[in-house]
Amino acid sequence: MKEVVVSIFLNNADWNVPIPILYGPNRILELATLCKSHNIKRPLIVTDKGSRQLPFISIITKLLNVAGLKISIFSEISPNPLDREILLGKSIYRDGKHDGIIAIGGGSGMDGGKAISLIVNNEYSLWDFDNDKLEVKGLENFSPLICIPTTSGTGAETHSTAMVTDTDLGIKKCVWYPSHRPLAAILDPELTFDLPKSLTAWTGVDALVHAVESYSINSLDPVADGMAVEGLNLIGEYIEKVIASPYDVESRGGMLIGSCLAGISFTKGLGLVHAVSHMVGAVYDTQHGLTNAIILPAVLRFNEDSIRHKVKVMNFSTFRDNGNFDSFYLNICNLLDRLEIPVGLSSIGVKKEKVSELALKASKDAAASTNPRYATIDALQTLILESLEGAR
Ligand SMILES: [Fe+2]
Repeated sequence: MKEVVVSIFLNNADWNVPIPILYGPNRILELATLCKSHNIKRPLIVTDKGSRQLPFISIITKLLNVAGLKISIFSEISPNPLDREILLGKSIYRDGKHDGIIAIGGGSGMDGGKAISLIVNNEYSLWDFDNDKLEVKGLENFSPLICIPTTSGTGAETHSTAMVTDTDLGIKKCVWYPSHRPLAAILDPELTFDLPKSLTAWTGVDALVHAVESYSINSLDPVADGMAVEGLNLIGEYIEKVIASPYDVESRGGMLIGSCLAGISFTKGLGLVHAVSHMVGAVYDTQHGLTNAIILPAVLRFNEDSIRHKVKVMNFSTFRDNGNFDSFYLNICNLLDRLEIPVGLSSIGVKKEKVSELALKASKDAAASTNPRYATIDALQTLILESLEGAR
């Protein structure tokens, strides 16, 4: 029977364009002015455990102190933020009578800050903001929030969504609130200079996956699609240049903007790479971008028939190649090889006996629901098994 394809242009669609973004080398120096202009006098700086000793924390501490702001630093955020860490951050915010949050770092630091900002000015629980059963209505008085990425990957700086592990259930949940957004994001490429080569590669592939997964979704969101394509353009241009020249402002800047655009694009949704990766991260506390990078080829193969009409644009944007699926797939695999991404999840500790649990959990992740091809739990299990040893 001939498949009937209904044009997405027959549907209604709502688009959300995000927030003020301050891009450029040394824009971090405007942080104190930005705080003052939004009446923030006692900001709580939230970052992840790994970033506490990095130079950008001492830089912003100094410049906020000089400006007369009273700050505290909360850095008890794991690579995959835990619910109890968010609750601890909430009490520190309240006890310190803070009046704003500066979420700085990679994905985990920013997600931690964003999740804390959701709950400090109301009496709702963190899981009341769970994307899957969001019933809270009419809230407006959120803590002012400024996001500052120090990696080029998460793209999490322009929206309020945060991934937090529910430690009772051992799954990652997405928390957010539609009207809560950062008041601004600062994109300063020099803050990413000291990111090690491995993290530069892993976070860079995370950004690439954001753009690929969002662009692959068949829904009407031309704003997100445009962001994804330009994100791929920049990431394709700079992801290897930045590894070769980590102190090159142009390359770091290109990656930071590419990551930000890819991050905006996934307001449209994500796909199975993230659905599986979220649960691998929740169970094994693996690095998010690295986990995504390993899974990506298996998901591309699974989605092949559903993304065929999208591949040419992605292939040209990323690799300046006009080829079809096979060419795009090969280009991706070759890039992952050059970035020294391992070929199997087993190399980051994933065990065969956990595959059915991971598949079941991934099937319930919000990112699975927007994947262009529906995946049964059995299909997810096969996909994860394929990714254990030889994902590409
Ligand atoms: Fe991601």
